[in-house]
Amino acid sequence: MSAAPRLRVQGDGFLLRPWCADDLEALLEHADDAAVVRGLGERFPHPYTRADGEAFLAGRVVDLATAWAIELEGRACGGLGLLLQGGERAHAARLGYWLGRRHWGRGHMTRIVGAFLQAAVPAYGLQRVEAFVLEGNPASARVLEKNGFRHEGTCRAGIRKGGRFHDLHWYARLWGGAAGR
Ligand SMILES: CC(C)(COP(=O)(O)OP(=O)(O)OC[C@H]1O[C@@H](n2cnc3c(N)ncnc32)[C@H](O)[C@@H]1OP(=O)(O)O)[C@@H](O)C(=O)NCCC(=O)NCCS
Repeated sequence: MSAAPRLRVQGDGFLLRPWCADDLEALLEHADDAAVVRGLGERFPHPYTRADGEAFLAGRVVDLATAWAIELEGRACGGLGLLLQGGERAHAARLGYWLGRRHWGRGHMTRIVGAFLQAAVPAYGLQRVEAFVLEGNPASARVLEKNGFRHEGTCRAGIRKGGRFHDLHWYARLWGGAAGR
């Protein structure tokens, strides 16, 4: 599934590169934040402990072959991941991302997602990239819309988090034959 070459994406003021063990302190500094976790699934816990960070960097939480550290000002301060699929879904992948709160609102994630897709879509042979946005996360919805994603629908009560059901908004963008079908 992850046989494509390991991507590094250098963009306007940022670098997307593989996570490494040395990122632990930076990861804890940015990930242990309720505001960051609010829009994410339970694999991203709060509080975000040292053990959580170590498990992530050891590859016990997600497949690190398709997870990238976002580096701004020379230091990891967020992450981006792609969930690749197989069989009749091999053309599709799910995108997720987060950024340390101090860097929000400056257009970083819009640029990062755009540059990442430009590299990842051909590298992984993708024709559809999907993303889930939890209700009440307009910033993430905007990042996707500004990158050409369309709102395809709402999974009502699609997630149960913090003892409550939440709607999930499905976004996707198509390329190649999928876009022209
Ligand atoms: C979502 C997130 C990645 C956005 O990163 P960012 O670098 O701040 O995003 P950008 O600055 O590129 O763009 C944010 C857009 O949302 C808009 N926005 C921000 N807060 C908003 C709000 N409350 N209502 C409406 N729009 C809002 C901004 O104005 C901007 O749009 P614009 O350029 O049209 O003005 C960041 O907030 C984050 O990491 N959140 C926590 C994790 C998360 O929710 N991840 C996404 C999971 S689907």
